Amino acid sequence: MVPKIIIIVCFYIFLSIQLRPSIAQITWIRVGYYRPSNEFSISDINFGLFTHIICAYVAVNSTSYQLSLSPADQEHFSTFTHAVKQKNSSVTTLLSIGGENGNYSIFSSMVSDSSHRKSFIDSSIKVARLYGFQGLDFAWQYPNTSIDMNNVGDLFQEWRAAIDLEAESSNYSQLILTAKVRYTTRVSFQSYPVQVIQQNLDWVHVVSSNYTQPLSSNLTGAHAALYDPSSYLNTDYGISDWTNIGGLSANKLVLGMPFYGFAWTLENPMNNGIAAVAKGPAITGTGFLTYKEIKNYTKRYGPDVHVAYDSSFVVNYWTNGTTWIGFDDVEAVREKVHYAQVKKLLGYYVWEVSYDDNWVLSQAAADVHINNSSVQEDYKKGQNKRSLSVILLSTAAAGILLLVIFVIFFCWRRKLKLKCKFFTIYMS
Ligand SMILES: *[C@@H]1O[C@H](CO)[C@@H](O)[C@H](O)[C@H]1NC(C)=O
Ligand SMILES: *[C@@H]1O[C@H](CO)[C@@H](O)[C@H](O)[C@H]1NC(C)=O
Ligand SMILES: *[C@@H]1O[C@H](CO)[C@@H](O)[C@H](O)[C@H]1NC(C)=O
Ligand SMILES: *[C@@H]1O[C@H](CO)[C@@H](O)[C@H](O)[C@H]1NC(C)=O
Ligand SMILES: *[C@@H]1O[C@H](CO)[C@@H](O)[C@H](O)[C@H]1NC(C)=O
Ligand SMILES: *[C@@H]1O[C@H](CO)[C@@H](O)[C@H](O)[C@H]1NC(C)=O
Ligand SMILES: *[C@@H]1O[C@H](CO)[C@@H](O)[C@H](O)[C@H]1NC(C)=O
Ligand SMILES: *[C@@H]1O[C@H](CO)[C@@H](O)[C@H](O)[C@H]1NC(C)=O
Ligand SMILES: *[C@@H]1O[C@H](CO)[C@@H](O)[C@H](O)[C@H]1NC(C)=O
Repeated sequence: MVPKIIIIVCFYIFLSIQLRPSIAQITWIRVGYYRPSNEFSISDINFGLFTHIICAYVAVNSTSYQLSLSPADQEHFSTFTHAVKQKNSSVTTLLSIGGENGNYSIFSSMVSDSSHRKSFIDSSIKVARLYGFQGLDFAWQYPNTSIDMNNVGDLFQEWRAAIDLEAESSNYSQLILTAKVRYTTRVSFQSYPVQVIQQNLDWVHVVSSNYTQPLSSNLTGAHAALYDPSSYLNTDYGISDWTNIGGLSANKLVLGMPFYGFAWTLENPMNNGIAAVAKGPAITGTGFLTYKEIKNYTKRYGPDVHVAYDSSFVVNYWTNGTTWIGFDDVEAVREKVHYAQVKKLLGYYVWEVSYDDNWVLSQAAADVHINNSSVQEDYKKGQNKRSLSVILLSTAAAGILLLVIFVIFFCWRRKLKLKCKFFTIYMS
Protein backbone atom coordinates (compact mmCIF):
# COMPACT_ATOMS: atom_id res chain seq x y z
CA MET A 1 0.00 0.00 0.00
CA VAL A 2 2.62 2.52 1.08
CA PRO A 3 5.06 1.94 -1.83
CA LYS A 4 2.08 2.52 -4.16
CA ILE A 5 1.54 5.92 -2.61
CA ILE A 6 5.20 6.72 -3.03
CA ILE A 7 4.94 5.81 -6.69
CA ILE A 8 1.91 8.07 -7.08
CA VAL A 9 3.66 10.95 -5.30
CA CYS A 10 6.79 10.49 -7.36
CA PHE A 11 4.62 10.51 -10.46
CA TYR A 12 3.09 13.85 -9.41
CA ILE A 13 6.53 15.34 -8.83
CA PHE A 14 7.71 13.97 -12.16
CA LEU A 15 4.66 15.54 -13.83
CA SER A 16 5.17 18.91 -12.18
CA ILE A 17 8.82 18.92 -13.24
CA GLN A 18 7.82 17.84 -16.74
CA LEU A 19 5.28 20.64 -16.89
CA ARG A 20 7.86 23.34 -16.38
CA PRO A 21 9.66 23.12 -19.72
CA SER A 22 6.36 22.61 -21.50
CA ILE A 23 5.06 25.91 -20.11
CA ALA A 24 7.92 27.59 -21.97
CA GLN A 25 7.16 25.66 -25.16
CA ILE A 26 4.74 27.62 -27.29
CA THR A 27 3.46 27.18 -30.78
CA TRP A 28 5.12 29.89 -32.77
CA ILE A 29 3.75 31.48 -35.91
CA ARG A 30 5.47 33.81 -38.39
CA VAL A 31 2.86 35.63 -40.42
CA GLY A 32 3.41 37.71 -43.56
CA TYR A 33 0.77 40.09 -44.90
CA TYR A 34 1.00 40.34 -48.67
CA ARG A 35 -0.77 42.89 -50.83
CA PRO A 36 -1.07 41.61 -54.40
CA SER A 37 0.81 43.79 -56.86
CA ASN A 38 2.31 43.38 -60.27
CA GLU A 39 5.76 44.54 -59.10
CA PHE A 40 6.07 41.83 -56.47
CA SER A 41 4.41 38.56 -57.28
CA ILE A 42 3.37 35.95 -54.74
CA SER A 43 6.00 33.52 -55.99
CA ASP A 44 8.73 36.06 -55.11
CA ILE A 45 8.07 35.44 -51.40
CA ASN A 46 10.68 33.47 -49.47
CA PHE A 47 8.37 30.81 -48.07
CA GLY A 48 10.93 29.35 -45.70
CA LEU A 49 10.48 32.44 -43.50
CA PHE A 50 6.71 32.37 -42.93
CA THR A 51 4.20 29.89 -41.58
CA HIS A 52 1.16 31.91 -42.72
CA ILE A 53 0.61 34.29 -45.64
CA ILE A 54 -2.35 36.67 -45.49
CA CYS A 55 -3.70 38.20 -48.66
CA ALA A 56 -4.73 41.84 -48.03
CA TYR A 57 -7.39 43.18 -48.49
CA VAL A 58 -10.86 42.48 -49.83
CA ALA A 59 -13.69 45.04 -49.51
CA VAL A 60 -17.32 44.64 -48.43
CA ASN A 61 -20.26 45.62 -50.66
CA SER A 62 -22.24 48.56 -49.21
CA THR A 63 -25.68 47.13 -49.96
CA SER A 64 -25.39 43.33 -50.02
CA TYR A 65 -22.65 43.12 -47.30
CA GLN A 66 -21.07 40.34 -49.27
CA LEU A 67 -17.35 40.42 -50.03
CA SER A 68 -16.80 42.67 -53.01
CA LEU A 69 -14.17 41.32 -55.40
CA SER A 70 -12.90 43.62 -58.10
CA PRO A 71 -11.81 42.01 -61.40
CA ALA A 72 -8.19 42.50 -60.24
CA ASP A 73 -9.01 40.75 -56.92
CA GLN A 74 -10.54 37.85 -58.80
CA GLU A 75 -7.45 37.54 -60.94
CA HIS A 76 -5.06 37.66 -57.96
CA PHE A 77 -7.14 35.39 -55.71
CA SER A 78 -7.58 32.75 -58.39
CA THR A 79 -3.83 32.12 -58.44
CA PHE A 80 -2.96 33.06 -54.85
CA THR A 81 -3.35 29.85 -52.88
CA HIS A 82 -2.18 27.73 -55.78
CA ALA A 83 1.02 29.80 -56.07
CA VAL A 84 1.62 29.53 -52.31
CA LYS A 85 0.99 25.78 -52.16
CA GLN A 86 3.21 25.16 -55.14
CA LYS A 87 6.12 26.85 -53.35
CA ASN A 88 5.45 25.33 -49.95
CA SER A 89 2.42 23.19 -49.22
CA SER A 90 2.74 23.60 -45.45
CA VAL A 91 2.27 27.38 -45.52
CA THR A 92 -1.26 28.40 -44.46
CA THR A 93 -3.18 31.07 -46.39
CA LEU A 94 -5.73 33.57 -45.08
CA LEU A 95 -7.80 36.30 -46.69
CA SER A 96 -8.00 39.65 -44.89
CA ILE A 97 -11.13 41.79 -45.06
CA GLY A 98 -11.16 45.60 -44.73
CA GLY A 99 -7.84 47.19 -43.84
CA GLU A 100 -6.58 50.72 -43.20
CA ASN A 101 -8.63 52.16 -46.04
CA GLY A 102 -11.77 50.11 -45.37
CA ASN A 103 -15.00 52.08 -45.25
CA TYR A 104 -16.09 52.63 -41.63
CA SER A 105 -19.78 53.14 -42.35
CA ILE A 106 -20.11 49.94 -44.38
CA PHE A 107 -18.59 47.86 -41.58
CA SER A 108 -20.61 49.61 -38.89
CA SER A 109 -23.81 48.96 -40.82
CA MET A 110 -22.84 45.38 -41.66
CA VAL A 111 -22.35 44.38 -38.01
CA SER A 112 -25.47 46.23 -36.83
CA ASP A 113 -28.09 43.84 -38.24
CA SER A 114 -28.28 40.06 -38.01
CA SER A 115 -29.34 39.63 -41.63
CA HIS A 116 -26.43 41.84 -42.79
CA ARG A 117 -24.06 39.78 -40.66
CA LYS A 118 -25.41 36.52 -42.08
CA SER A 119 -24.96 37.75 -45.62
CA PHE A 120 -21.39 38.81 -44.81
CA ILE A 121 -20.50 35.57 -43.01
CA ASP A 122 -21.94 33.26 -45.67
CA SER A 123 -20.20 35.20 -48.41
CA SER A 124 -16.84 35.19 -46.58
CA ILE A 125 -16.93 31.40 -46.15
CA LYS A 126 -17.98 30.92 -49.76
CA VAL A 127 -15.17 33.13 -51.09
CA ALA A 128 -12.59 31.46 -48.83
CA ARG A 129 -13.55 28.01 -50.14
CA LEU A 130 -13.85 29.14 -53.74
CA TYR A 131 -10.27 30.45 -53.77
CA GLY A 132 -8.77 27.89 -51.40
CA PHE A 133 -7.97 30.17 -48.43
CA GLN A 134 -7.65 28.33 -45.11
CA GLY A 135 -8.75 31.22 -42.95
CA LEU A 136 -10.33 34.66 -42.69
CA ASP A 137 -8.93 37.80 -41.03
CA PHE A 138 -11.33 40.58 -40.01
CA ALA A 139 -9.43 43.86 -40.38
CA TRP A 140 -11.91 46.59 -39.49
CA GLN A 141 -9.74 49.54 -38.39
CA TYR A 142 -11.59 50.30 -36.15
CA PRO A 143 -15.00 49.83 -34.55
CA ASN A 144 -15.20 52.85 -32.23
CA THR A 145 -18.59 53.09 -30.49
CA SER A 146 -20.02 50.89 -27.75
CA ILE A 147 -22.70 49.74 -30.21
CA ASP A 148 -20.03 48.77 -32.77
CA MET A 149 -18.11 46.81 -30.14
CA ASN A 150 -21.24 44.96 -29.03
CA ASN A 151 -22.13 44.14 -32.61
CA VAL A 152 -18.60 42.96 -33.37
CA GLY A 153 -19.04 40.52 -30.45
CA ASP A 154 -22.24 39.20 -32.04
CA LEU A 155 -20.50 38.91 -35.40
CA PHE A 156 -17.61 36.88 -33.96
CA GLN A 157 -19.98 34.46 -32.20
CA GLU A 158 -22.14 33.94 -35.26
CA TRP A 159 -19.11 33.67 -37.54
CA ARG A 160 -17.53 31.01 -35.35
CA ALA A 161 -20.80 29.04 -35.23
CA ALA A 162 -21.10 29.21 -39.02
CA ILE A 163 -17.49 28.09 -39.47
CA ASP A 164 -18.02 25.15 -37.10
CA LEU A 165 -21.17 24.13 -38.91
CA GLU A 166 -19.57 24.42 -42.33
CA ALA A 167 -16.63 22.25 -41.30
CA GLU A 168 -19.00 19.60 -39.93
CA SER A 169 -21.13 19.48 -43.03
CA SER A 170 -18.25 19.52 -45.52
CA ASN A 171 -15.05 17.56 -45.74
CA TYR A 172 -12.89 20.65 -45.37
CA SER A 173 -10.88 21.32 -42.26
CA GLN A 174 -12.21 24.23 -40.23
CA LEU A 175 -11.40 27.76 -41.37
CA ILE A 176 -9.12 29.82 -39.11
CA LEU A 177 -10.75 33.02 -37.82
CA THR A 178 -8.61 36.02 -36.78
CA ALA A 179 -8.90 39.80 -36.52
CA LYS A 180 -6.61 42.80 -36.82
CA VAL A 181 -7.05 44.95 -33.72
CA ARG A 182 -5.76 48.20 -32.22
CA TYR A 183 -2.67 48.08 -29.98
CA THR A 184 -4.82 48.42 -26.83
CA THR A 185 -8.20 46.91 -25.97
CA ARG A 186 -9.83 50.33 -26.34
CA VAL A 187 -10.78 52.55 -29.27
CA SER A 188 -12.26 55.97 -28.41
CA PHE A 189 -12.75 54.77 -24.81
CA GLN A 190 -14.78 51.74 -25.97
CA SER A 191 -13.47 48.28 -25.22
CA TYR A 192 -13.30 45.38 -27.64
CA PRO A 193 -15.39 42.34 -26.54
CA VAL A 194 -12.29 40.61 -25.20
CA GLN A 195 -14.05 37.54 -23.76
CA VAL A 196 -15.86 36.94 -27.05
CA ILE A 197 -12.51 37.23 -28.84
CA GLN A 198 -10.96 34.77 -26.38
CA GLN A 199 -13.70 32.22 -27.06
CA ASN A 200 -14.28 32.65 -30.78
CA LEU A 201 -11.12 33.82 -32.54
CA ASP A 202 -8.00 31.76 -33.13
CA TRP A 203 -5.83 34.82 -32.55
CA VAL A 204 -5.58 38.60 -33.18
CA HIS A 205 -3.00 40.64 -35.12
CA VAL A 206 -2.12 43.63 -32.96
CA VAL A 207 -1.40 46.81 -34.94
CA SER A 208 1.76 47.86 -33.07
CA SER A 209 2.86 50.82 -35.21
CA ASN A 210 1.96 54.33 -36.43
CA TYR A 211 2.03 55.75 -32.88
CA THR A 212 3.47 58.95 -34.35
CA GLN A 213 4.33 60.32 -37.80
CA PRO A 214 5.68 63.52 -39.37
CA LEU A 215 2.26 64.83 -40.40
CA SER A 216 0.97 64.58 -36.85
CA SER A 217 4.04 65.49 -34.77
CA ASN A 218 6.95 67.88 -35.17
CA LEU A 219 9.13 65.82 -32.85
CA THR A 220 11.11 62.92 -34.28
CA GLY A 221 9.96 59.63 -32.82
CA ALA A 222 9.73 55.85 -32.85
CA HIS A 223 6.45 55.17 -34.66
CA ALA A 224 6.46 51.60 -33.40
CA ALA A 225 8.10 52.08 -30.00
CA LEU A 226 8.21 48.91 -27.93
CA TYR A 227 8.64 51.00 -24.78
CA ASP A 228 8.20 54.67 -23.97
CA PRO A 229 8.79 55.90 -20.44
CA SER A 230 6.83 59.10 -21.02
CA SER A 231 3.70 57.91 -22.87
CA TYR A 232 1.13 55.12 -23.19
CA LEU A 233 1.71 55.08 -26.93
CA ASN A 234 3.90 52.02 -26.97
CA THR A 235 3.55 48.32 -27.71
CA ASP A 236 4.45 47.02 -24.25
CA TYR A 237 1.65 49.10 -22.74
CA GLY A 238 -0.81 47.74 -25.32
CA ILE A 239 0.19 44.11 -24.88
CA SER A 240 -0.11 44.40 -21.09
CA ASP A 241 -3.51 45.97 -21.55
CA TRP A 242 -4.72 43.06 -23.70
CA THR A 243 -3.40 40.40 -21.34
CA ASN A 244 -3.54 41.88 -17.82
CA ILE A 245 -6.54 44.20 -17.99
CA GLY A 246 -8.47 42.66 -20.88
CA GLY A 247 -7.72 39.09 -19.81
CA LEU A 248 -6.90 37.75 -23.27
CA SER A 249 -4.51 34.78 -23.26
CA ALA A 250 -1.04 35.83 -24.39
CA ASN A 251 -1.04 32.98 -26.90
CA LYS A 252 -3.91 34.65 -28.79
CA LEU A 253 -1.78 37.73 -29.53
CA VAL A 254 0.40 38.18 -32.61
CA LEU A 255 2.77 41.17 -32.53
CA GLY A 256 3.03 43.57 -35.48
CA MET A 257 6.38 44.25 -37.15
CA PRO A 258 6.30 47.27 -39.47
CA PHE A 259 8.77 46.92 -42.35
CA TYR A 260 8.59 50.68 -42.89
CA GLY A 261 9.57 53.91 -41.21
CA PHE A 262 9.03 57.67 -41.34
CA ALA A 263 11.38 60.49 -42.35
CA TRP A 264 11.30 63.91 -40.67
CA THR A 265 13.01 67.16 -41.68
CA LEU A 266 14.97 68.43 -38.70
CA GLU A 267 14.82 72.02 -37.58
CA ASN A 268 18.48 71.88 -36.55
CA PRO A 269 20.89 69.21 -37.92
CA MET A 270 22.83 69.32 -34.65
CA ASN A 271 19.75 68.40 -32.62
CA ASN A 272 19.13 64.96 -34.12
CA GLY A 273 18.16 62.39 -31.49
CA ILE A 274 14.72 61.04 -30.60
CA ALA A 275 12.20 63.82 -29.83
CA ALA A 276 14.30 66.35 -31.76
CA VAL A 277 12.40 69.35 -33.13
CA ALA A 278 11.31 68.87 -36.76
CA LYS A 279 9.27 70.79 -39.32
CA GLY A 280 7.33 68.08 -41.13
CA PRO A 281 8.05 65.07 -43.37
CA ALA A 282 11.16 64.47 -45.47
CA ILE A 283 11.75 62.62 -48.76
CA THR A 284 8.08 61.75 -49.42
CA GLY A 285 4.86 63.70 -48.87
CA THR A 286 3.98 61.84 -45.67
CA GLY A 287 7.54 60.75 -44.80
CA PHE A 288 6.43 57.12 -45.22
CA LEU A 289 9.22 54.89 -46.59
CA THR A 290 9.43 51.12 -46.91
CA TYR A 291 12.50 49.39 -45.44
CA LYS A 292 13.66 48.73 -49.00
CA GLU A 293 13.40 52.43 -49.83
CA ILE A 294 15.16 53.40 -46.60
CA LYS A 295 18.10 51.11 -47.41
CA ASN A 296 18.24 52.51 -50.92
CA TYR A 297 18.19 56.07 -49.61
CA THR A 298 20.74 55.62 -46.84
CA LYS A 299 23.14 53.80 -49.21
CA ARG A 300 22.97 56.69 -51.66
CA TYR A 301 23.05 59.63 -49.28
CA GLY A 302 25.17 58.39 -46.44
CA PRO A 303 26.81 55.04 -47.05
CA ASP A 304 29.19 55.72 -44.16
CA VAL A 305 26.60 57.12 -41.79
CA HIS A 306 26.06 54.79 -38.87
CA VAL A 307 22.51 53.53 -38.21
CA ALA A 308 21.84 54.24 -34.53
CA TYR A 309 19.91 51.89 -32.25
CA ASP A 310 18.02 53.10 -29.21
CA SER A 311 17.26 50.27 -26.81
CA SER A 312 15.01 52.31 -24.51
CA PHE A 313 12.38 52.71 -27.28
CA VAL A 314 13.64 49.78 -29.40
CA VAL A 315 14.06 51.67 -32.67
CA ASN A 316 16.79 52.36 -35.22
CA TYR A 317 17.39 55.74 -36.79
CA TRP A 318 19.60 57.25 -39.44
CA THR A 319 20.31 60.95 -39.70
CA ASN A 320 22.28 63.04 -42.15
CA GLY A 321 21.99 66.79 -42.43
CA THR A 322 18.37 67.72 -41.82
CA THR A 323 17.01 64.27 -42.73
CA TRP A 324 16.01 61.95 -39.87
CA ILE A 325 14.57 58.46 -40.55
CA GLY A 326 13.17 56.30 -37.75
CA PHE A 327 12.57 52.62 -38.58
CA ASP A 328 13.04 49.06 -37.37
CA ASP A 329 16.32 47.60 -38.56
CA VAL A 330 17.70 44.19 -37.63
CA GLU A 331 18.37 45.12 -33.97
CA ALA A 332 14.86 46.43 -33.33
CA VAL A 333 13.27 43.46 -35.12
CA ARG A 334 15.30 40.95 -33.09
CA GLU A 335 14.42 42.65 -29.82
CA LYS A 336 10.71 42.69 -30.66
CA VAL A 337 10.62 39.02 -31.62
CA HIS A 338 12.48 38.23 -28.41
CA TYR A 339 9.91 40.29 -26.50
CA ALA A 340 7.06 38.32 -28.11
CA GLN A 341 8.74 35.09 -27.03
CA VAL A 342 9.37 36.22 -23.46
CA LYS A 343 5.75 37.35 -23.19
CA LYS A 344 4.64 33.99 -24.62
CA LEU A 345 2.70 35.53 -27.46
CA LEU A 346 1.68 33.29 -30.36
CA GLY A 347 4.11 34.93 -32.82
CA TYR A 348 4.56 37.98 -34.99
CA TYR A 349 3.28 39.34 -38.29
CA VAL A 350 5.06 41.57 -40.76
CA TRP A 351 3.53 44.42 -42.74
CA GLU A 352 4.33 44.02 -45.56
CA VAL A 353 6.44 41.18 -46.98
CA SER A 354 7.47 43.08 -50.13
CA TYR A 355 8.80 46.03 -48.09
CA ASP A 356 11.73 43.91 -46.91
CA ASP A 357 15.14 44.31 -48.52
CA ASN A 358 16.51 40.93 -49.66
CA TRP A 359 14.68 39.26 -46.75
CA VAL A 360 17.08 40.79 -44.23
CA LEU A 361 14.40 41.63 -41.65
CA SER A 362 12.27 38.52 -42.24
CA GLN A 363 15.38 36.38 -41.82
CA ALA A 364 16.46 38.22 -38.66
CA ALA A 365 12.99 37.68 -37.19
CA ALA A 366 12.87 34.01 -38.15
CA ASP A 367 16.34 33.43 -36.70
CA VAL A 368 15.34 34.47 -33.18
CA HIS A 369 14.86 31.14 -31.45
CA ILE A 370 13.37 30.53 -28.08
CA ASN A 371 16.35 30.61 -25.81
CA ASN A 372 15.45 29.23 -22.43
CA SER A 373 18.42 30.68 -20.59
CA SER A 374 17.71 34.21 -21.80
CA VAL A 375 14.01 33.77 -21.02
CA GLN A 376 14.99 32.69 -17.49
CA GLU A 377 17.21 35.76 -17.32
CA ASP A 378 14.19 37.94 -18.05
CA TYR A 379 12.18 36.19 -15.35
CA LYS A 380 14.91 37.07 -12.89
CA LYS A 381 14.64 40.69 -13.94
CA GLY A 382 10.99 40.38 -13.02
CA GLN A 383 9.75 41.39 -16.47
CA ASN A 384 7.32 38.51 -16.51
CA LYS A 385 5.88 38.33 -13.02
CA ARG A 386 3.10 35.90 -13.89
CA SER A 387 5.49 33.29 -15.25
CA LEU A 388 7.75 33.86 -12.27
CA SER A 389 4.89 33.06 -9.93
CA VAL A 390 4.11 29.90 -11.91
CA ILE A 391 7.67 28.72 -11.37
CA LEU A 392 7.57 29.68 -7.68
CA LEU A 393 4.26 27.86 -7.26
CA SER A 394 5.43 24.70 -8.94
CA THR A 395 8.65 24.81 -6.88
CA ALA A 396 6.61 25.21 -3.70
CA ALA A 397 4.29 22.36 -4.78
CA ALA A 398 7.25 20.10 -5.43
CA GLY A 399 8.63 20.98 -1.98
CA ILE A 400 5.35 20.14 -0.27
CA LEU A 401 5.12 16.84 -2.17
CA LEU A 402 8.66 15.95 -1.13
CA LEU A 403 7.71 16.65 2.47
CA VAL A 404 4.65 14.38 2.10
CA ILE A 405 6.84 11.59 0.70
CA PHE A 406 9.22 12.01 3.55
CA VAL A 407 6.41 11.75 6.14
CA ILE A 408 4.92 8.70 4.42
CA PHE A 409 8.29 7.04 4.19
CA PHE A 410 8.93 7.87 7.84
CA CYS A 411 5.56 6.38 8.90
CA TRP A 412 6.22 3.30 6.83
CA ARG A 413 9.61 2.79 8.38
CA ARG A 414 8.11 3.15 11.85
CA LYS A 415 5.26 0.82 10.79
CA LEU A 416 2.74 3.29 12.20
CA LYS A 417 0.16 1.91 9.85
CA LEU A 418 -2.87 3.42 11.55
CA LYS A 419 -1.58 6.98 11.19
CA CYS A 420 -0.47 6.33 7.67
CA LYS A 421 -4.02 5.36 6.71
CA PHE A 422 -4.81 9.07 6.88
CA PHE A 423 -2.32 9.75 4.10
CA THR A 424 -3.56 6.77 2.08
CA ILE A 425 -7.09 8.13 2.11
CA TYR A 426 -5.93 11.69 1.59
CA MET A 427 -3.77 10.91 -1.40
CA SER A 428 -6.10 8.57 -3.28
C1 LIG B 1 7.77 25.35 -45.71
O1 LIG B 1 7.04 25.95 -44.67
C2 LIG B 1 7.23 25.36 -43.40
C3 LIG B 1 6.29 26.05 -42.44
O2 LIG B 1 6.52 27.42 -42.44
C4 LIG B 1 8.69 25.50 -42.99
O3 LIG B 1 8.88 24.86 -41.76
C5 LIG B 1 9.58 24.89 -44.05
O4 LIG B 1 10.93 25.15 -43.74
C6 LIG B 1 9.26 25.47 -45.43
N1 LIG B 1 10.04 24.77 -46.43
C7 LIG B 1 10.67 25.40 -47.40
C8 LIG B 1 11.40 24.53 -48.37
O5 LIG B 1 10.66 26.60 -47.55
C1 LIG C 1 -23.10 45.59 -54.47
O1 LIG C 1 -24.04 44.55 -54.63
C2 LIG C 1 -25.16 44.94 -55.39
C3 LIG C 1 -26.18 43.82 -55.29
O2 LIG C 1 -25.54 42.58 -55.44
C4 LIG C 1 -24.72 45.23 -56.81
O3 LIG C 1 -25.81 45.61 -57.60
C5 LIG C 1 -23.69 46.36 -56.79
O4 LIG C 1 -23.18 46.57 -58.06
C6 LIG C 1 -22.56 46.03 -55.82
N1 LIG C 1 -21.72 47.18 -55.66
C7 LIG C 1 -20.41 47.16 -55.88
C8 LIG C 1 -19.69 48.44 -55.66
O5 LIG C 1 -19.83 46.14 -56.22
C1 LIG D 1 -18.35 54.62 -47.64
O1 LIG D 1 -19.45 53.95 -48.22
C2 LIG D 1 -20.64 54.73 -48.24
C3 LIG D 1 -21.76 53.85 -48.71
O2 LIG D 1 -21.42 53.26 -49.94
C4 LIG D 1 -20.40 55.95 -49.16
O3 LIG D 1 -21.56 56.75 -49.18
C5 LIG D 1 -19.22 56.74 -48.62
O4 LIG D 1 -18.90 57.78 -49.53
C6 LIG D 1 -17.99 55.85 -48.45
N1 LIG D 1 -16.98 56.59 -47.78
C7 LIG D 1 -15.74 56.61 -48.20
C8 LIG D 1 -14.77 57.40 -47.37
O5 LIG D 1 -15.35 56.04 -49.20
C1 LIG E 1 -15.39 56.40 -35.65
O1 LIG E 1 -14.57 56.34 -36.82
C2 LIG E 1 -15.13 56.99 -37.95
C3 LIG E 1 -14.24 56.72 -39.13
O2 LIG E 1 -12.90 56.96 -38.83
C4 LIG E 1 -15.32 58.47 -37.65
O3 LIG E 1 -15.91 59.10 -38.76
C5 LIG E 1 -16.19 58.63 -36.42
O4 LIG E 1 -16.28 59.99 -36.06
C6 LIG E 1 -15.59 57.85 -35.26
N1 LIG E 1 -16.53 57.89 -34.12
C7 LIG E 1 -16.12 58.05 -32.86
C8 LIG E 1 -17.17 58.04 -31.83
O5 LIG E 1 -14.93 58.21 -32.57
C1 LIG F 1 -16.91 13.36 -47.29
O1 LIG F 1 -16.07 12.25 -47.48
C2 LIG F 1 -16.76 11.00 -47.39
C3 LIG F 1 -15.75 9.86 -47.48
O2 LIG F 1 -14.53 10.31 -48.03
C4 LIG F 1 -17.80 10.93 -48.51
O3 LIG F 1 -18.51 9.72 -48.42
C5 LIG F 1 -18.77 12.09 -48.37
O4 LIG F 1 -19.67 12.11 -49.42
C6 LIG F 1 -18.01 13.42 -48.33
N1 LIG F 1 -18.95 14.50 -48.02
C7 LIG F 1 -18.97 15.65 -48.68
C8 LIG F 1 -19.97 16.66 -48.21
O5 LIG F 1 -18.21 15.91 -49.60
C1 LIG G 1 0.47 53.75 -41.14
O1 LIG G 1 0.69 54.99 -41.76
C2 LIG G 1 0.92 54.93 -43.15
C3 LIG G 1 1.25 56.32 -43.67
O2 LIG G 1 0.30 57.23 -43.28
C4 LIG G 1 -0.31 54.35 -43.83
O3 LIG G 1 -0.06 54.22 -45.21
C5 LIG G 1 -0.61 52.99 -43.23
O4 LIG G 1 -1.82 52.50 -43.78
C6 LIG G 1 -0.76 53.08 -41.73
N1 LIG G 1 -0.90 51.74 -41.19
C7 LIG G 1 -1.85 51.41 -40.33
C8 LIG G 1 -1.85 50.01 -39.86
O5 LIG G 1 -2.67 52.21 -39.91
C1 LIG H 1 5.36 71.31 -38.27
O1 LIG H 1 6.10 72.46 -38.58
C2 LIG H 1 5.79 73.02 -39.86
C3 LIG H 1 6.74 74.18 -40.13
O2 LIG H 1 6.91 74.94 -39.00
C4 LIG H 1 4.33 73.45 -39.88
O3 LIG H 1 4.00 73.94 -41.16
C5 LIG H 1 3.46 72.23 -39.57
O4 LIG H 1 2.12 72.58 -39.50
C6 LIG H 1 3.88 71.57 -38.26
N1 LIG H 1 3.16 70.31 -38.11
C7 LIG H 1 2.60 69.94 -36.97
C8 LIG H 1 1.93 68.60 -36.98
O5 LIG H 1 2.63 70.61 -35.96
C1 LIG I 1 16.63 53.70 -55.38
O1 LIG I 1 16.31 55.07 -55.49
C2 LIG I 1 16.47 55.62 -56.78
C3 LIG I 1 16.18 57.10 -56.72
O2 LIG I 1 15.05 57.40 -56.00
C4 LIG I 1 15.56 54.91 -57.74
O3 LIG I 1 15.77 55.40 -59.06
C5 LIG I 1 15.84 53.43 -57.71
O4 LIG I 1 14.92 52.74 -58.51
C6 LIG I 1 15.73 52.91 -56.29
N1 LIG I 1 16.09 51.51 -56.24
C7 LIG I 1 15.38 50.63 -55.56
C8 LIG I 1 15.89 49.23 -55.59
O5 LIG I 1 14.38 50.96 -54.92
C1 LIG J 1 24.57 63.75 -46.36
O1 LIG J 1 23.65 64.44 -47.18
C2 LIG J 1 24.21 65.37 -48.06
C3 LIG J 1 23.07 65.97 -48.88
O2 LIG J 1 22.01 66.32 -48.07
C4 LIG J 1 25.22 64.75 -48.97
O3 LIG J 1 25.85 65.73 -49.78
C5 LIG J 1 26.25 64.03 -48.15
O4 LIG J 1 27.12 63.34 -49.00
C6 LIG J 1 25.55 63.06 -47.23
N1 LIG J 1 26.46 62.21 -46.53
C7 LIG J 1 27.23 62.55 -45.53
C8 LIG J 1 28.08 61.46 -44.94
O5 LIG J 1 27.23 63.69 -45.09
